[in-house]
Amino acid sequence: MKPMGPIPPAFAAQRGALTIGGHDATALVAAHGSPLFVYDAALIAAQVARFRTAMPAEIDLHYAIKANPLPALLERIALLVDGLDIASAGELARALAVKPGAAISFAGPGKRDDELAAAIAAGATINLESAGEARRALASGERLGVVPRLAVRVNPDLELRGSGMKMGGRASPFGIDAEHAASVVREVIAAGADWRGFHIFAGSQALDVAAVIETQAATLALAARLAEDAGAVPPLVNLGGGFGVPYFAGDVALDVAAVGAALGEALAVRGEVLRDSRFAIELGRWLVAEAGVYLTRVVDVKQSRGETFVVVDGGLHHQLAASGNFGTVVRRNYPLAVAARMGTAAEGAMSVVGCLCTPLDRLGDRIALPPVAVGQVIAIFLAGAYGATASPAAFLGHPAPAEIVV
Ligand SMILES: Cc1ncc(COP(=O)(O)O)c(C=O)c1O
Repeated sequence: MKPMGPIPPAFAAQRGALTIGGHDATALVAAHGSPLFVYDAALIAAQVARFRTAMPAEIDLHYAIKANPLPALLERIALLVDGLDIASAGELARALAVKPGAAISFAGPGKRDDELAAAIAAGATINLESAGEARRALASGERLGVVPRLAVRVNPDLELRGSGMKMGGRASPFGIDAEHAASVVREVIAAGADWRGFHIFAGSQALDVAAVIETQAATLALAARLAEDAGAVPPLVNLGGGFGVPYFAGDVALDVAAVGAALGEALAVRGEVLRDSRFAIELGRWLVAEAGVYLTRVVDVKQSRGETFVVVDGGLHHQLAASGNFGTVVRRNYPLAVAARMGTAAEGAMSVVGCLCTPLDRLGDRIALPPVAVGQVIAIFLAGAYGATASPAAFLGHPAPAEIVV
């Protein structure tokens, strides 16, 4: 028997039939088909509210669309946050469709000229990833006759300790090395751009509260030092994000109240050059992961050499992360449940496997589940971020999953 991650608090106490946003999960599958992603809008709103309560007033909240770009979800979250962070022209189109005039920032390496042009024309801020990109963005603005909004993404000389995905403190395709950032700032200002400030993103999926606090303080200090070097006041300092969610056994939710309190203290003593700056934190998974559940129907239950396999009609082509093949080194179990039997005692160890013809398609590895029969629905939690759009949907030609917001 192997452990599972913790079922998110909104579902953990449920007994009997699983409900999502007040809807019976099995009935949702009957109505919308299987497999199905369901996102609970009220849980997302509650998470935004939790952030607002915890954070100092100087902090804006940006949503990183990459975590979940479903238009029906985006249109709700866009109303609740102060800005949208995009990573492509496709995400730009989605952002503009749900919130014309939204504050948009565009980060990511390899922005094509057509993407730069579309974003600059739309008034988005480009988070510059290199000196070469700075030149291309300036040229794009000139061609369009638009003063481009440019921020410098810094590859910090610090990393977010304990983060699942480190994006700082080393050689990196992301951002301009801190030691060269100030000179790029001076260049874009001299070229007549509207310099918007710094974007400093040090890592993702961090649950270690001390590490997040320490990184935010170091990020503030770095921004102040770079602003002094550049001789310019940054209108906005995007402090990155990296707030993690508990996916696996032993993971504990990040104490955002403690993060907010410490950030308030760090802001109070920030460098004078940042006195009039605003600040932003940009989050993806922390806002949406726990609000999503992937529901998939059992097609077969089989025994093989003493092990029970629950075979479902979904799989890693929809929810790659739950199979352990999206950025994890060691495969561990996401939280799963039999949707009609929340709180029922486990019968024994079973493996939940997807319908793909590869041993990688394992959604639950020797986990404790109650009795389960063909036709029942398995719920895989923490499916609100990096699910449907971060999975190889075309692999093996199965249908795309339905996605709904309730
Ligand atoms: C620049 C940037 N912003 C935001 C995010 C979102 O991270 P998360 O979903 O962990 O909050 C990422 C993730 O890779 C990123 O690279």
